[in-house]
Parts: sequence; C-alpha cells; structure tokens
Amino acid sequence: MMTGRIKEETAGCCCILGALTLVITLSAAYAFVVPVVVTVDDAALTRLDLAAAPAPDGNNGTVPSLAINLSLAVAVRNRNWAMSAWLPAPPVGELRFRGVPFARGWLPVAPRAWRPHRIRARRTEMYRVSSEIEGVLMAGLGSDGVDEFARESAAGVFQLELVVSGEVRYQAHLHRRNFSASCPLKLSLSTGAFARVRCT
Ligand SMILES: *[C@@H]1O[C@H](CO)[C@@H](O)[C@H](O)[C@H]1NC(C)=O
Ligand SMILES: *[C@@H]1O[C@H](CO)[C@@H](O)[C@H](O)[C@H]1NC(C)=O
Ligand SMILES: *[C@@H]1O[C@H](CO)[C@@H](O)[C@H](O)[C@H]1NC(C)=O
Repeated sequence: MMTGRIKEETAGCCCILGALTLVITLSAAYAFVVPVVVTVDDAALTRLDLAAAPAPDGNNGTVPSLAINLSLAVAVRNRNWAMSAWLPAPPVGELRFRGVPFARGWLPVAPRAWRPHRIRARRTEMYRVSSEIEGVLMAGLGSDGVDEFARESAAGVFQLELVVSGEVRYQAHLHRRNFSASCPLKLSLSTGAFARVRCT
C-alpha cells in the first residue's frame, strides 16, 4: 500500500511538472511573434528602357519614361514554429529606381483569386509578380538619375528596389501588424543571372 501511494504521488508530481512544461512551452511559442521574412527567390528581366517623353504639362520639356518587362518570385516565410500567420489582404509590391516609384500593385498568387489565407508555421508562400509596363513617366528622376540609368545600362546590371508591404495577423494574436521589407535587386538583361535576395 505504502509503495503504491508513493508511486502515485510521484506520478502526480510528474504530471504536474509535465503540464507546467507544456504550458510554458506553448506560452513561449504563442506569446512571442517572430516576424515574417520576405525574400526574392527568382527574377527575370527581359526589357528595361528609359526614353524621353514630352512633358505632360504642355511645356516643351521632356520627362524620362520607363518601359519594363520583369517577373519576380517573392517568398513570404513564417518562421514561427507553432503559430500560423494570416495575410488578410494581398501584400503590395512597389518597384523603384533610384527611390522613384514606377510600379505598384498586388502580389497575386496566380492563378486563383485572393482570399485571406494562412501561412502555416515554418512554411513559405510564393507570390509571382510580373510587370509589363510600356511607358511610365518618372518626373522625380532628375538628370543624375538618367545618367545613373545610362551607367547601369552600359554595365549591364540594373539596380532596382522592390518594397513589399502588407498586413499580417498571427495565430492567438488579435491585432493585425504591418510589415514592410525592402529588397535590393540586381538584374541583368543579358545573362539573366540572379542571386536570391533577403529583404530587410
Ligand atoms: C514585353 O511585354 C510586352 C507586353 O506583354 C510584349 O509585347 C513584349 O514583346 C515584351 N518584350 C520583351 C522584350 O520581352
Ligand atoms: C515651345 O516651343 C515653341 C516652338 O519652339 C514656342 O513657340 C513656345 O513658346 C514654347 N513654349 C514654352 C512654354 O516654352
Ligand atoms: C498599417 O498600415 C495601414 C496602411 O498603411 C495604416 O492605415 C495602419 O494604421 C497601419 N497599422 C499599424 C498597426 O501600424
């Protein structure tokens, strides 16, 4: 009888310790949010031109006009090991040259339409983005920007920036949080070579 009771007590004690450990572990897993990480895993640039277009204000001046064909594979990774992350709306991508934005839009998950979706713990969601823009006026690009474009064109490597921003809600957390990540892209028309970029 004695031994039996001692065993029971020990077992009960272990149970409480085990439950306590579980509670602490789960609290740690759900209390602390590890923010999503954005990377650009692949890119293909087939066209990038800068031309002079007549200024829209009717003066005789000209404004730089950019044409681009670019497709990107953007990954959003949920690094939490227990919590899912929900994106209630599609993330927005903005492309910039020398800080001047020239394209802004959703990052769609082709081919299905967007609906709030879940990135499970430790999983990655891929977004494919393509921009085919015939001519967008870049009034903010001064003559130094035009010179820089010419230099990069001669060197064969263009430096663009992709800014990805959106809202995310983590499991067990009520509030949505904003995230924004800047991805410096180095793109070559001729070789098509691209090294994966981690956005910050
Ligand atoms: C760029 O995209 C346009 C529109 O889709 C297409 O007509 C054109 O052939 C493309 N050019 C290159 C060089 O890929
Ligand atoms: C634009 O150029 C035309 C012809 O050269 C000239 O008559 C006109 O005054 C100019 N307009 C402006 C706003 O400079
Ligand atoms: C998130 O961004 C949106 C739009 O830019 C803004 O209206 C909202 O206040 C931001 N929310 C937080 C929590 O920063």
